[in-house]
Amino acid sequence: MNSGYSFFSFHEMKKIVYLLVFALLITACHFEPLNNKSELKIVVASDIHYFLKEYYKDCDWFEESVLQGDGKMVTYCDEIVDAFIKDVEKINPDLVILTGDLSFYGEKGSHEALAKKLLTLKDKGIHVAVIPGNHDIDSIYAKGYGKDDFIKVDNVNAEMFKSIYKDLGYDISYHQHRDSLSYSIQLNHKYTLFMMDSTAHQLTGSNLDIGGYFTESTMEWLEDELKSVKDNDRIPIVAMHHNLAIHNNLINQGYTIKDYQTIAKLFQNYQVPFVLTGHIHCQNIREVNGIYDIASSSLLDAPLQYGVMTLKDNGMEYHTQSLKISQDANEYFDLVSSNKFAEAFEVIKDKKIREEMKEVVVKANRYYFAGNIFLHIDELKNMKGYAYFYKEEGEKLSFYKGYLENLMSDTNNNQSLNLIY
Ligand SMILES: [Fe+2]
Repeated sequence: MNSGYSFFSFHEMKKIVYLLVFALLITACHFEPLNNKSELKIVVASDIHYFLKEYYKDCDWFEESVLQGDGKMVTYCDEIVDAFIKDVEKINPDLVILTGDLSFYGEKGSHEALAKKLLTLKDKGIHVAVIPGNHDIDSIYAKGYGKDDFIKVDNVNAEMFKSIYKDLGYDISYHQHRDSLSYSIQLNHKYTLFMMDSTAHQLTGSNLDIGGYFTESTMEWLEDELKSVKDNDRIPIVAMHHNLAIHNNLINQGYTIKDYQTIAKLFQNYQVPFVLTGHIHCQNIREVNGIYDIASSSLLDAPLQYGVMTLKDNGMEYHTQSLKISQDANEYFDLVSSNKFAEAFEVIKDKKIREEMKEVVVKANRYYFAGNIFLHIDELKNMKGYAYFYKEEGEKLSFYKGYLENLMSDTNNNQSLNLIY
């Protein structure tokens, strides 16, 4: 030993410095906020469910099966995503947030193709931040559609997801959670955004559960992060796939995140003003413990809408805008709803009455999922089929009568929100 105070050789010291610099780089990617503006423009969309055409190009029965589905215009997803990207370029926001279910059923090729399209925004200087939904990771339903049968396709695990979307959120993260795909972004001098992974998997394994939850480790990480945000007098906002609120008394099973009351209490304690969610494919805004849950409808469902949000130091303004494509999205949604309700309405023997009654529920369904049924109450009540729900025909269709009343009881404008805090 040549001196009393040196424990390390020069080479060892050099190694330690390198290791420290490396550790700093991987634990915190962005010390600087995303930008210095006091007013931020953010575009938010959800449940794109992108499906690579390659996976069904030889199948002539795929479109038929989609028309029996839930209304998503899956076979138009390229046109819709391209139109969305064009709109976003025109809006030129500071950030685009996508709240999960990026892929149809978690196919690797769908994820890769969507990421490629989204990266064109990045090339134009527009940041994009994604989180996974319940369809996106370790999906056992990932498959293609061949001539006569399904075909096997690759899905993705959590590590692959993070790698495919590495430049679509993770690159601008401030902190990342080690055990999930959650991360935070310092948006400006005031706002921290938490992109929360509610898909109930951990990086080391999978656990399919469409209900979604935050693991214990995710909750601990989130609480620590919220504490530090509060200490620094910043405003935390949250994006996650599963809903924080119960958006509908009939339709909520599997949509609202597990232990939502505990999570809402946590958000209340740390003054989260609103959360951005998706999953339910219904444009709906509900309050829980004073926190607004803005659920974006699926970008693939009529009216093909996304949210545009302005964040100010003391509040926010939010409204939705719709895309235009070659096919009439309302007509398409009505056709799928009509197919879905057809069998149940067979109990009405008079064909004319049956169709008139069905038309009321078909329209109400579309208005409700678009988030603007409050504008159409008189129109629905004045339709020929409406009165039959309150005659003997209505008794034969008691479920649909209840469903219709449930939809028509929503008096909110779910397509816009202004908050001051
Ligand atoms: Fe979805």
